[in-house]
Amino acid sequence: MDKMWAGRTAGTTANLVDEINSSIAVDRRLYKRDIAGSIAHAKMLAKQGIIPQQDADAIVEGLTGIEKDITSGALSIDPTAEDIHMFVESILTQRIGDTGKMLHTARSRNDQVALDTKMYCIEEIDNIDYLLCKLMEVLADKAEKNTDVILPGYTHMQHAQPVSFGQHMMAYAMMFDRDRSRLADCKKRMFEASPIGACALAGTTFDIDRQYEAELLGFNGIAMNSMDAVSDRDHFVELMSAAAIIMMHTSRLSEEIVMWATTEFGFIQLPDEYTTGSSIMPQKKNPDVAELCRGKTGRVYGNLMSLLTVLKGLPLAYNKDIQEDKEPLFDSVETVKLCIEAFIEMVEVMEVNSENMYESAKQGYVNATDLADYLVVKGLPFRDAYNISGRVVSYCLGRGVILEELPLEEYKQFSPLIEEDVHQRLQLRTCVERRNSAGGTSPASVRAQIEFIRAKLADQKQD
Ligand code: ARG
Repeated sequence: MDKMWAGRTAGTTANLVDEINSSIAVDRRLYKRDIAGSIAHAKMLAKQGIIPQQDADAIVEGLTGIEKDITSGALSIDPTAEDIHMFVESILTQRIGDTGKMLHTARSRNDQVALDTKMYCIEEIDNIDYLLCKLMEVLADKAEKNTDVILPGYTHMQHAQPVSFGQHMMAYAMMFDRDRSRLADCKKRMFEASPIGACALAGTTFDIDRQYEAELLGFNGIAMNSMDAVSDRDHFVELMSAAAIIMMHTSRLSEEIVMWATTEFGFIQLPDEYTTGSSIMPQKKNPDVAELCRGKTGRVYGNLMSLLTVLKGLPLAYNKDIQEDKEPLFDSVETVKLCIEAFIEMVEVMEVNSENMYESAKQGYVNATDLADYLVVKGLPFRDAYNISGRVVSYCLGRGVILEELPLEEYKQFSPLIEEDVHQRLQLRTCVERRNSAGGTSPASVRAQIEFIRAKLADQKQD
């Protein structure tokens, strides 16, 4: 195929070279950012007197038309083109003639692709953030409806202490809140450093105004070293790490949903539309959405590792290896968005079986710490109180009775400090309500967490 860069070589490449070299199948989705970047570039070139204003106007008009036509479908992206940058430039020249050939003055595809992809990252961070906000709203609503629902809290997957289901939901809201802050943090860094104007690697002999071009594109500053600017993919790595962490969070919730939906747990039920059946076992109702999100987490981790490996050991500045950056990035972004969207709906429709949760919490002596705390309040040092509570649990286990139902006379054998109020104190509801420390599981504390998250979401909306 003949190339725009023909000159030094004839520009005809073997078919296999075209195949391995072409990135259009992947980078075609950058066309809008590529055109926005080129429009800013043409304006800057004209402002600096590098190209005549009327030529810049023709370029801007031509590019605007190309964008419109690609979007409407009137112009289809040629799958045999080398990449989206070459495609747009060649169509521009076809449409407006030799003026189109001026556009690439004081620019290279190296800074161009760095710019396009940075704009992509910034936009997608906003999209992911929007979805995270929605998911947090849904979690907060679920928590609010279930503040009084009690289930066993686990450590080591063993019954530990009774908790509110609201607390459990808000734990995930906190994770997604941190994800938002991670995204905001790397977005800030992206805005600070526009790469355009770094050119191939060393800057340019033309009197360009990088700051002006950066401002036209919404950046706050410019990358200060041209060699770094064209080879830097840190922002990809940061966004892909943030995506991997989000996936890790959704995967943990997936695991809980899968477990909770089992016959053994029976804590939740998913409506039919969110489950799938088996081709052979007629009774099955499978939590595939949660399982798939858990599974896709592996791909998103893999994408991060794949890019880190591409970048490892690359000398400065641009190397064609870097072209392999976009496929994993796009995949991580699309996957994380799809999974968050699936979770928004799944959490919303998930039905909570509060009775099963309560019945389960009644087993496993989840109020044993409360018995020890009770004895501390009556005057015992905690370690002694702990010992007595442990012995009571062991006694109850042998008799097949739960702590809140052991008769007072039998309690008295363990400590004279135990009085009639012990039964009330060991009710699971009392245990949950009394864990009123900041961040604890009491309904009041859960409500405070809900307010905390909702206030953050409201702040976001005002920005
Ligand atoms: N398609 C290339 C990429 O995605 C654009 C940059 C090409 N630069 C070059 N020197 N051949 O990385």
